[in-house]
Amino acid sequence: MDSRPIALFDSGVGGLSILREIARLLPWEDTLYFADKVNCPYGELSLPEVRGLSQGITRFLLSKEAKVIVVACNTASAAALQRLRTSFPKTPFIGMVPAIKPAATLTHSRRVGVLATPATFQGELFADVVSRFATDVEVVAQACPGLVEKVEEGDLCGSETAALLDRYVTPLLQEGVDTLVLGCTHYTFLIPLLRDMVGEGINIVDPSPAIARQTKHVLTQFDMLKTDALPGKREFYASGDALALSRTTSYLIGKEETFIEVQWQQDGKRLLLS
Ligand code: DGL
Repeated sequence: MDSRPIALFDSGVGGLSILREIARLLPWEDTLYFADKVNCPYGELSLPEVRGLSQGITRFLLSKEAKVIVVACNTASAAALQRLRTSFPKTPFIGMVPAIKPAATLTHSRRVGVLATPATFQGELFADVVSRFATDVEVVAQACPGLVEKVEEGDLCGSETAALLDRYVTPLLQEGVDTLVLGCTHYTFLIPLLRDMVGEGINIVDPSPAIARQTKHVLTQFDMLKTDALPGKREFYASGDALALSRTTSYLIGKEETFIEVQWQQDGKRLLLS
C-alpha cells in the first residue's frame, strides 16, 4: 500500500480534464495538481523553455512526495517527457501523445485531423507517433493558437471561442477528415461546443480516459496503489492567479477547489520554481 499522492501538472486548467478521469477511476488515491499559470500558454514557448519549466515543477512535486507524475499536458510531454525520465529515474512518468493509434482504427475516410498547440507539433514525439501509427492514414496537423487562452478564461462556448474553433476545424472537414484527435488537454473542455459544430458523424478522440487507465496500470505495475477505501484528498498548487484558477474548478470539474500559490524565484525572462 502506497498512500503518497499521484501528481499532475499542466500550464493551467487543461490537466484538470485528466485529473477528473483519474478521480473517477481511482477515487481513493490522493492527488496533487500543479498549474503553471504564470507561464501559460506553453504552446507558444520554445521546447527548451518548456523543458526547463517541467524540470522545476517535477522537483516541486517530488518535494511533496509524489509517487508518480502525470504530465497532463501534450506540450510539456512533447518537450520534456524523455528528459524527465532520464533526470528522475526513480519516478514513473505518464505522458501524453496525440492519440493517432485509436484514431487510425476509427477513421473511414483515412484522414485524421489533430488539434494541438504549435509546440506539440514541433516535438519528436509527434513525428514518432505519426510514423508508427499512421502508416495507411493521412494525418492533418492543425495548430490552434488562442484556444488555450479561451479555456483559461472559462469561455467554453462563447461566440469568440466558437469562431476560433470553427476557423480551425472547418478546413479539416473540407479536406475529408472524419476523425478529430484532441492533442491538448485544454480542448477536452470544448467537446460540447465541438460536437455541436461537427455533428454526430465525426469521431472526436479524447485521450483523458485512456490516460487514467494508463495511470492505474503503472501504479499496479510498480505496486503503488493505495488500497484503503478512504476518499482521496486533493491538493491544488499554482505559480500565479490562484483565485482565478479556484473559480474555474467548479464548472470544469464539478467541485470548487482552492489553489495555493507557491513561491517563485526570478530567473532570467521566465519564472522558475525555487
Ligand atoms: N494543456 C496543454 C497541452 O496539452 C496546453 C498547452 C499550452 O499551455 O499552450 O498542450
